[in-house]
Amino acid sequence: MKYTRADFPKDFLFGVATSAYQIEGHAQGGAGPTHWDSFAATPGNVVRAENGDLACDHVHRFEQDFDLIREAGFDCYRFSTSWARVLPEGRGPVNQAGLDYYDRLADALLERGIRPCATLYHWELPSALADLGGWRNRDIAHWFADFTEIIMGRIGDRMYSVAPINEPWCVSWLSHFEGHHAPGLRDIRATARAMHHVLLAHGRAIQAMRGLGMSNLGAVFNLEWAEPADDTPEARGAADLYDGIYNRFFLGGVFNKAYPENVLQGLQAHLPDGWQDDFDTIGTPVDWCGLNYYTRKLIAPADTPWPSLQEVPGPLPKTQMGWEIEPSALTRFLTRTARDYTGALPIYVTENGMASPERQQDDDRIDYLNQHLAAVQDALDQGVPVKGYFIWSLLDNYEWALGYEKRFGLVDVDFDTLERRPKASFRAMQAALAQGDPVSVPMAQPRGAMHDHWNLVADIGGTNTRLGVVTNGTLTDLRKSPTGTLPEFLAALHDLCAEIGTPPRAVVAAGAGPVRNGTIRLTNANLDLSEADIATATGADHTFVINDFTAAAWSVAEITGDDVQALRGDPTPPTGTRLVVGPGTGLGVGALLYSEGHYHTVSGEGGHVGLSPRARDEVDVFEAARRIAPKCFFGDSLTLEAEMFLSGTGLPILYRAVGMAAGQPDTPALPAKDILQAARDGSDPLAMRAAQIFTTHLGAVMGDMAVTVMPTGGVFLVGGVAEKNRWLFGDDFLAAFNAGGRFDALRQGFGVYVSEQAEFGIVGANNFCKNALAR
Ligand code: FCB
Repeated sequence: MKYTRADFPKDFLFGVATSAYQIEGHAQGGAGPTHWDSFAATPGNVVRAENGDLACDHVHRFEQDFDLIREAGFDCYRFSTSWARVLPEGRGPVNQAGLDYYDRLADALLERGIRPCATLYHWELPSALADLGGWRNRDIAHWFADFTEIIMGRIGDRMYSVAPINEPWCVSWLSHFEGHHAPGLRDIRATARAMHHVLLAHGRAIQAMRGLGMSNLGAVFNLEWAEPADDTPEARGAADLYDGIYNRFFLGGVFNKAYPENVLQGLQAHLPDGWQDDFDTIGTPVDWCGLNYYTRKLIAPADTPWPSLQEVPGPLPKTQMGWEIEPSALTRFLTRTARDYTGALPIYVTENGMASPERQQDDDRIDYLNQHLAAVQDALDQGVPVKGYFIWSLLDNYEWALGYEKRFGLVDVDFDTLERRPKASFRAMQAALAQGDPVSVPMAQPRGAMHDHWNLVADIGGTNTRLGVVTNGTLTDLRKSPTGTLPEFLAALHDLCAEIGTPPRAVVAAGAGPVRNGTIRLTNANLDLSEADIATATGADHTFVINDFTAAAWSVAEITGDDVQALRGDPTPPTGTRLVVGPGTGLGVGALLYSEGHYHTVSGEGGHVGLSPRARDEVDVFEAARRIAPKCFFGDSLTLEAEMFLSGTGLPILYRAVGMAAGQPDTPALPAKDILQAARDGSDPLAMRAAQIFTTHLGAVMGDMAVTVMPTGGVFLVGGVAEKNRWLFGDDFLAAFNAGGRFDALRQGFGVYVSEQAEFGIVGANNFCKNALAR
């Protein structure tokens, strides 16, 4: 080599790059199918229809491959993580073997003194997500952020640097407009969406990693210099558009929060609605910028629909790929990127190299590397903060649509025996890197910088709100504060996040009131709370508003024998569908339906089923109630909404009706608490009669509802009224529950429990949260 380490600034990093699908051997280790597998299996897409099933068998040989990196003296290794190896279906169940593999890989690099530089996505999209539209579907940004958290939650602490996505242009334009890469589409609308969504996913992944406490995060772009084919204004315009589509669209989105005008002229009509609103996410600050550079193109106008341009063959020497060798364009890109986009931010050349048929004496590659290192030197001389240079690639590998024919490696791979043999370029780099001072750059993330995931759960009452901090699934802190106005409530959420120092992964807010389109109308607190407001206040990735009774239902999802009093049945509630009834302010009813190993909630309006006299001597009471609350009766009948008697607010009405039926028209509507106290100590006959009606009707309604959902997992009474008045749930209660005509025996078979969980709203919101995130 013409250069050695000593010719570069102190701490300039040298590395080699690879990617998962190109080397690992995708058919091994439990990885799920990807769109590259099906693309390769389709005739005409890939040379000899080759795929990544075995590739370099790196999953079994990574230790040996890392020995080579150490032997050559590289400081860094840029690799990628396969989404489908970690999450075979892209979402949902994790392939532990896949996570374990990346864990061992990280350790194996550090043991050898090599800095792990991860790319989260280098093109092998899980097929299950491709089925949902892949990069065309805006939801991919969330799926990708979730994958990011899972993989970086495991190996992030040992990464030197991370970039979310390799080469957004290839992911979108090459694959959706030109159709040369998976998924092989040729559709301008698909392209525009993919171009935007790939940047949105990049931004969400950066946010997710910041949320884990990670630093040294970047973005990697592939750039191709566009040279007008001649001096006409048409050719200049075509080249400028090529530059816009290829280079400036992606750099502009991330660093300037804007897309180039000439590209918007053709693409704007096809971008997803509201694309302008995504730039704050897309432009989430990064710590460095990576450029992959290989070649330039000569561009001429063409008589086609937009973009109306074509590549024409150029006169410069070419590599095995047919790509012109033009090192000075690398210098121009480095200076232009710093000037127009990144300023003082470190820039790395994250890929540079060439394909050559020379399997041992690859002097052409040595020459190529020398010329491009000279180009980096030129940029350094002009003050560009270039901090490192990575060669593509360590090994000969699967060169995508060109199969195994095009060899980019410093190390030759025999694809029959999988034997590795370093080429002359490998030895040349080894000699160059041995001269000069070793770098003194940290190996990985600062120790202790990463932290656990946390979720925020809120139980919002009319007066007070409880905020729970849940760390790795367990409630670790509980705060109580006045609910206040909407801005006050949101400020309380914001302050808690600021105190913890990172945004929560998810926020669940439960309150009394109807939920519509992501907004809950909090009836008692008299405010409208939306999931979007919560996201703004907390920076959380996932936000949910749920009805308090949905939370109550979820509160029994993981209930154990320690958390309940069994009125009847197995002391530990069995797993199965559960019916939840809360005779609190209103008569809340919910069911946790159990199917396919999971719970799902249904929160019903059990308070509004009908209640009719159960005995002749109750007729007077119901008639009296009709005079108090005529609107709550069903037509002309003596049937009224259950909630009017069977809740904390209903019991005073029942008490008054009992008094009126007993000839005491002035009976006051005593608070429920006082009525129950007087009934319990036998001091007030009206209270005793009201409590009797309350108990038996509640039992009967619960028995009726049990027959409709078949709660083999038990029937649960939740909430303060039930918990503080267990004496209500004696023999009369159970007798009424059981009385079901020919279904007595069925009703007797259901276990009945009183939940003893103090913070059931918080417990329920947390269970909801865990379940929602797992989905
Ligand atoms: C880059 C890709 C890499 C490899 C090289 C030759 O665009 O990132 O996977 O194919 O080209």
